[in-house]
Amino acid sequence: MRYVLIIMMMVGAGMALAQSGSDGLGDSYYPQLGNGGYDVQHYTIELEIDVDANTIDGTAMIEAKATQTLESFNLDLSGLTVESVLVNDEEAAFDRDDTELIITPTTPLEQDDAFTIIVAYSGEPEPINDPGVPFLPIGWLRNDSIIATVSEPSGSMVWYPSNNHPLDKATYTLRITVPEPYVVAANGFLMETTDNGDTTTYDWQTDDPMASYLTAIYIGEFVVEETTLDDGLPIRNYFLADDAERWSEEFASQGEMIAYFSELFGAYPFDVYGSIVVPDDVMPAALETQTLSVFGESSVNPATIAHELVHQWFGNSVSPAAWEDIWLNEGFATYGEALWVENTDGTDGYNEYIAVLHDFAGEAGLAAPADPGISELFGASVYVRGALVLHALRAELGDDVFFDVLREYHTRFANSVARSSDFIAVAEEVSRHDLVALFDAWLYGAEVPPLP
Ligand code: ARG
Ligand code: ZN
Repeated sequence: MRYVLIIMMMVGAGMALAQSGSDGLGDSYYPQLGNGGYDVQHYTIELEIDVDANTIDGTAMIEAKATQTLESFNLDLSGLTVESVLVNDEEAAFDRDDTELIITPTTPLEQDDAFTIIVAYSGEPEPINDPGVPFLPIGWLRNDSIIATVSEPSGSMVWYPSNNHPLDKATYTLRITVPEPYVVAANGFLMETTDNGDTTTYDWQTDDPMASYLTAIYIGEFVVEETTLDDGLPIRNYFLADDAERWSEEFASQGEMIAYFSELFGAYPFDVYGSIVVPDDVMPAALETQTLSVFGESSVNPATIAHELVHQWFGNSVSPAAWEDIWLNEGFATYGEALWVENTDGTDGYNEYIAVLHDFAGEAGLAAPADPGISELFGASVYVRGALVLHALRAELGDDVFFDVLREYHTRFANSVARSSDFIAVAEEVSRHDLVALFDAWLYGAEVPPLP
């Protein structure tokens, strides 16, 4: 009898498991990132931040839709203490297992149910070592007066619970409260600033779908420089007051870049843009956080400004469906650097830029940019050989067809995700060329082919 009972319990557990949302989305490099069984529409992340203590008090309200029957489902969250979870305003049971927050609502959800999750949490956000970014801790970075979140690819889960994979984009409200005199910059539009006496609440809103790795908040004594481009696009740049004039000059060409790339790739994909500069000790790199690219001080230069801007089309509007396709981000953005050089220095400048990339690829013996392996997610190949894929394609197709391909690829996958195979299919369809040999050599080939 005892054995029968145990077997029956196992069968029962098995049936419950069959109705659990999966703990990952099948990403070949990050099997635990993202979760199955639901689709998030909107995140409202409210954080009260004690900047000196480096602690947060948070509420994440998540509006989602079940894509299957759900007895339980997961969010991704790293560190922090979860105080309570509500599903449809009812207290839900929850458990933690590494970076999985496992939630069991009192009533199972039916397929297609719209539901809300409210997670109350707090603690000190801990940066993490992501195997794809071996050169930099990510998540929550700070010095004694500035906090910057750096989320690509996995880091957003150190400051809020989410479906942490680009396959599930959503819109966002980031409502962040900080002590005076700190300022909060974040993705999207600043809708409201509320003076609470000793603290200020900044209410940032993103209306276009955004991947979790592109979400960001930046806290410091920043000043804002606001302008509007000729076509009406609002620009807001955030600089530390002491260096504001210097950075203002460095970023003066940003508007011209937007006009130029809009002509090549199609209209700028979002309704606002800008850049923020932080000290190198907070972040010694640059990142294309959606609508507000961030630059460590020593990353401020025209090539990198162009690079992060081009990511708004390729990376942010069209995101990788799998992290192994990261060249669709970095190859395109690096190629954008060459395009900006072409605009400022002409064809000779462009050819020289490409020659430098090609020489480097050959000398360093860079492996194929497709599927680089997780430790080379941001290695040189996806940037350098990734850019050369586009150079080779342009040489094969000619300018008119090549830029038609880029525009069609962007149009088709805007606000969504794509694989390398999607890009190749668009290139072949638009150009009516068989491009198998070209992509075999430049994208998948171990050897760097000679320049066309
Ligand atoms: N996407 C960034 C770039 O524009 C990658 C920088 C590496 N850092 C990171 N946290 N992923 O090159
Ligand atoms: Zn990049």
